[in-house]
Amino acid sequence: MTRLKILHHPDPRLRTKATPVDTFDDQLAEFAKNMLETMYAAPGIGLAATQVNVHKRVIVVDVSDTKSEAHTLINPVLEPFGARIQGEEGCLSVPEIYESVERFEQVHVTAQDVSGKPIEFTASGMLAICIQHECDHLEGKLFVDYLSSLKRGRISKKLRDRAKAIG
Ligand code: NI
Repeated sequence: MTRLKILHHPDPRLRTKATPVDTFDDQLAEFAKNMLETMYAAPGIGLAATQVNVHKRVIVVDVSDTKSEAHTLINPVLEPFGARIQGEEGCLSVPEIYESVERFEQVHVTAQDVSGKPIEFTASGMLAICIQHECDHLEGKLFVDYLSSLKRGRISKKLRDRAKAIG
């Protein structure tokens, strides 16, 4: 397995809209495994292919404490429903920034697994939030887009300054 490089905001490649997966082969299975390894190593609870500069509709999530509830979702389609809830979110592409974002409390998910088999389930709470966050990445959208432009500007500046400091 290989750890993949995660792009950081404001990298313009994070704004790419991902295209559907139509080939379910060993290469896809290997890529999904690498995404999970990269997410766990980061450490994070979700990762979208967009974040590792692969613009295909693939996300991985695992909100468990024990790394035992991994979901690999190919071509996910969401139907969010229920109450709107506010929660603190962070993102592996926006390091060390945490802000409150409004999401739907529940989401009905249809997707495919790595072999192309249809998957369908309803998620709530943290899993629902995480899936909504990751699917936004596939549209080229980041959680900071939900914040005020003033706050967003400060975050971009902070990340650019930090990148400069690293060299
Ligand atoms: Ni993210």
